[in-house]
Amino acid sequence: MAGRLIGVDPSARLLAAFYERAEALGIVVTAIEGVWPDVAGATPVADVVVCHHVAYNVPALAPFLRRLTNHARRRVVLEVTARHPMSALNDLWLQFHGVTRPSRPTADDVVAVLRELGLSPERAEWMAPAFGWGRPFARREDLVASLRRRLCLPAERDGGARRRARGRPRGTGRGARRHGEPASTPRRRPVVGRSSVMV
Ligand SMILES: C[S@@+](CC[C@H](N)C(=O)[O-])C[C@H]1O[C@@H](n2cnc3c(N)ncnc32)[C@H](O)[C@@H]1O
Repeated sequence: MAGRLIGVDPSARLLAAFYERAEALGIVVTAIEGVWPDVAGATPVADVVVCHHVAYNVPALAPFLRRLTNHARRRVVLEVTARHPMSALNDLWLQFHGVTRPSRPTADDVVAVLRELGLSPERAEWMAPAFGWGRPFARREDLVASLRRRLCLPAERDGGARRRARGRPRGTGRGARRHGEPASTPRRRPVVGRSSVMV
């Protein structure tokens, strides 16, 4: 187990939860509130840098990844999904709000940017079990309510969401399962791992 953990996040609430959990395990914690790479200068270097499902909303991947690399003495482990995790709802955002939502970056995009930076990423892929909001819904109205919240729609729009939900997978998004698949069936969620500083 790591002797010291450094957490970076713009959310004070999430950092407080991180702090609490790590402290309970007896780990020395440093919490840095801010957006990467803006706070890179205030962040100590670490042996291993882990960046798990963060890259999706990063406007400039190259500086984001370069500063992660600069902060790792030994290795950076970055996890992203094969598809942008919320892109399954893009057609609904367009229909209900007229808004075109991003479908990138994907894992392939991240690997391409790393190569452009002159790095040689190692890539590992696996099928992750369903989790979070990708879990199946016991009742269709729960799926509809979840879709409605995800789409920032009021409850009176459930009729529309229900029509659109018809025929959709029971859960939609990262780790989602298709109708009829058993609960243990994992979905494909490629993961990018890379050695930034070889030892
Ligand atoms: C989808 S959550 C993933 C949380 C956790 N790593 C996990 O995999 O369960 C994305 C997290 O990244 C944070 N985040 C997003 N952009 C960031 C950035 N540029 N720098 C630091 N944190 C960021 C968000 O505040 C949020 O806590």
